[in-house]
Amino acid sequence: MKVLVTGYTGQLGYDVVQSGLKIGLNMVGIGSKDLDITNEAAVTYYVKEMNPDAIIHCAAYTAVDKAEDDKSKCWDVNVEGTKHLAKTAKEIDAKFLYISTDYVFNGEGDSPFDEKDKTNPIGYYGLTKYEGEKILKQLLDHWFIIRISWVFGINGNNFVKTMLRLAETKKEVNVVGDQVGSPTYTFDLAQLIIEMIQSDKYGVYHASNEGFCSWAEFAQEIYKQANADVKVNSISSEEYPTRAVRPKNSRMSKQNLIENGFHPLPKWQDALKHYLNELKQEVK
Ligand SMILES: NC(=O)c1ccc[n+]([C@@H]2O[C@H](COP(=O)([O-])OP(=O)(O)OC[C@H]3O[C@@H](n4cnc5c(N)ncnc54)[C@H](OP(=O)(O)O)[C@@H]3O)[C@@H](O)[C@H]2O)c1
Repeated sequence: MKVLVTGYTGQLGYDVVQSGLKIGLNMVGIGSKDLDITNEAAVTYYVKEMNPDAIIHCAAYTAVDKAEDDKSKCWDVNVEGTKHLAKTAKEIDAKFLYISTDYVFNGEGDSPFDEKDKTNPIGYYGLTKYEGEKILKQLLDHWFIIRISWVFGINGNNFVKTMLRLAETKKEVNVVGDQVGSPTYTFDLAQLIIEMIQSDKYGVYHASNEGFCSWAEFAQEIYKQANADVKVNSISSEEYPTRAVRPKNSRMSKQNLIENGFHPLPKWQDALKHYLNELKQEVK
């Protein structure tokens, strides 16, 4: 099976390629320098030449705050870029797996959102990711949408790396405690993606690591597991204003994964333990 993976230079795309290679799939990972997905002619030419059996679309404009002031760039990448890839996938009859986000929901209430719940993004980035979902449903027959949240992986920057960096100079940090969700370890998710792309169980899925926490609880667990003596002060979203408003409730249920016989990802604390080991191996 030949699989084209966008976003290879980012966190998730990198691990998806490694995961596919491990089981002998023909994986081709690309970043924006290989192919700018906002360029329709380039996308059509490149993808048709390669003629993959499947496209796993991990590339995105992911700067959530910057997106509020850089709307046209964010739209071009997340909506137009997705449209160009999906149109070409249709022409060559390739399966299409699109990575989406908890930010398609408005974050109200405190129960987990399921796959069929109403979407209502509160920020521009979330809106563009939702527009991407709609394009797939309009254009394609063979599509998967996987919504994920709070991503951490070996290839790129993320909350875990930031907390570890802060521990080098600080004894105390303030972290938001009233946004609750689930971290997603790209190593775990990549294995699920590779299993899913080989199936024909199309549809919308939620796939973060199991269990819920606030960002402050996530930070506390990072310091506990890393044996770092840093005090975490839990603060409110209002005390940490950001350009884009974040949903307070990012809990997602994994009903569709279970109903279709896929294994939910490991607990987020176990994923973190694995990740801290992965980081240690990288330093050696
Ligand atoms: N990070 C999170 O917390 C989070 C949460 C929920 C959902 N997601 C979704 O998960 C997916 C993966 O996120 P991630 O954290 O792995 O992303 P990331 O590390 O920010 O990487 C983004 C990737 O997109 C590529 N890209 C950006 N603009 C492009 C363009 N015009 N043409 C081609 N490629 C382009 C980048 O390539 P270059 O390096 O060449 O620029 C890079 O490989 C995304 O769909 C994102 O929306 C992420």
